[in-house]
Amino acid sequence: MTRIRRAGPADAETLAALGARTFADTFGHLYRREDLEFFLNKNHSRAVYETALADDAYALWVAENDAGEAVGYGVAGPCSLPVPGLPENSGELSRLYLTRQAQGSGLGESLARAMLDWLTENFSHVYLSVYADNPRAQRLYQKLGFIKIHDYFYEVGEHRDPEWIMELQRAE
Ligand SMILES: CC(C)(COP(=O)(O)OP(=O)(O)OC[C@H]1O[C@@H](n2cnc3c(N)ncnc32)[C@H](O)[C@@H]1OP(=O)(O)O)[C@@H](O)C(=O)NCCC(=O)NCCS
Repeated sequence: MTRIRRAGPADAETLAALGARTFADTFGHLYRREDLEFFLNKNHSRAVYETALADDAYALWVAENDAGEAVGYGVAGPCSLPVPGLPENSGELSRLYLTRQAQGSGLGESLARAMLDWLTENFSHVYLSVYADNPRAQRLYQKLGFIKIHDYFYEVGEHRDPEWIMELQRAE
């Protein structure tokens, strides 16, 4: 059984290691080594997670397997995406990553649903960004009620990736 729980200050080191590993496993092949290293140092340091964990505007989750090993994580908070005409009180499902071994078991959906419960309680609008060539994640997000609203480029070092911005459709 995998357990999903909210992360706390003691999880910063685990999240930094898992964040760097899962990003490199998923997208590392797309970048030059120096761009990847720059990106990982900037976005997946222990200090980055300590800051987010200490900030009430953000929520982080960890998924652990039976052995207590972290096999997935999520980060949500205020929306920082270049959404045209971004409404006030907009939130973002900003990171959702599983280790390779944990993928394909429905854990991604369970983790995303826990994140969406928190996001929809705290924000009027919810957005996310997903790599244009990541059909698996797009499929999950569509299933959860997101639709594509915008294209943009996400920068990793000097590399520019085509991304979709998706918005959660909510009942009126
Ligand atoms: C994306 C991710 C969170 C999905 O979680 P998961 O538990 O592995 O999800 P699943 O394998 O159940 O797949 C989700 C859906 O995509 C479908 N799918 C799987 N592989 C697919 C592919 N190559 N193309 C299209 N759809 C695919 C599944 O059938 C499933 O749809 P269904 O529920 O209708 O059957 C997880 O795979 C992951 O962490 N990937 C690496 C990191 C990543 O890409 N994160 C997202 C960054 S935006």
